[in-house]
Amino acid sequence: MFKSDLTKNRIAYSAPSNIAFVKYWGKHGRQLPMNASISMTLSRCCSHFQVQYYPQGQGRIKSLIFEGQEQTAFKARLQNYLDSIHDVAGWVAEYDFSIHSENTFPHSAGIASSASAMSAFIMCLCHIESMVGDKTLDLEHASLLARLASGSACRSVIPHYGVWGEHTGFPAGNDQFAVAFEDFDTSFAQMNDDIVIVDQAEKSVSSSAGHALMNAHPYRSGRIDQANDNFRVLINAMKVGDFESFGSVLENEALSLHGLMLSSDPSYILLKPNSLAIIEELKIWRHQSKLPVYFTIDAGPNLHLIYPKSVKESVAGFLKQVKEQFSVSVIHDEIGSGPKQL
Ligand code: DP6
Repeated sequence: MFKSDLTKNRIAYSAPSNIAFVKYWGKHGRQLPMNASISMTLSRCCSHFQVQYYPQGQGRIKSLIFEGQEQTAFKARLQNYLDSIHDVAGWVAEYDFSIHSENTFPHSAGIASSASAMSAFIMCLCHIESMVGDKTLDLEHASLLARLASGSACRSVIPHYGVWGEHTGFPAGNDQFAVAFEDFDTSFAQMNDDIVIVDQAEKSVSSSAGHALMNAHPYRSGRIDQANDNFRVLINAMKVGDFESFGSVLENEALSLHGLMLSSDPSYILLKPNSLAIIEELKIWRHQSKLPVYFTIDAGPNLHLIYPKSVKESVAGFLKQVKEQFSVSVIHDEIGSGPKQL
């Protein structure tokens, strides 16, 4: 178990993944989003990072051990990242670092780990900065640094619901860092996310490549309008506790994201036959049960079932049947309160 130990210049954090309700898809400039997005911060799908820092260094990552193994590709990614943030965190150039990390979810689960990993790493960096530099640890700065590492990571440092991007309907929203959306109805306070693992394979096209395909996408401007409208409707639905409008935007966002992939040039498909089959089952069951259980999907084939905790028992019954019928596994997660120091 990783642990902070100030006497050894060692800081450890756990940070969660998040699931987007309105998707960030397409970017410009230095990791700036094409549209505003909102996500739910999770609780159990986390990355743990332990960063040891050495004064009088040169901004080098000496080693990166992920779940007991040296990871050269990930180490190179973090090194590039450190080299790129000297203008906003110049102090890193005067230290060297060695890193241990692990995920609380299986690597093969097909869950995007960059949001949790990058936010855990950056929380460690910001904590170190607050000790060796003149900055106090604040979430805005952490979120900005996380955004520069991976867009969606900027929302993972925010408790409960994080908003990233400018939007006329949400004045605090800005493109530089994520902020909390706190004005939701109490019916959205206790939410679950059951992740149905349809396929465990690593995705064939990275999110970064997908974002890049939005630059010349024929539906680019239509997507910006759609995302802005969806954001407005979803925020309002959460403010007044309207699950039906919430669910209809949630599912529209998921299918639109995959529609954009299907219509990119080159086009690609991340959904699997069972992704669609389980969506059909969910719709039938929802029609019969009349329960507010809706799906979303990230850049992969797995379904996230989003619903208020109060209907958990009924959803468990539905998932039992889905597991048997489609031979899939399920990871149970829920809304969470953001990164924690270990
Ligand atoms: C589909 O944050 O992984 O999950 O900024 O290139 O690291 P980079 O992309 P990333 O994109 C995530 C896209 C998404 C939707 C979302 O989380 O909003």
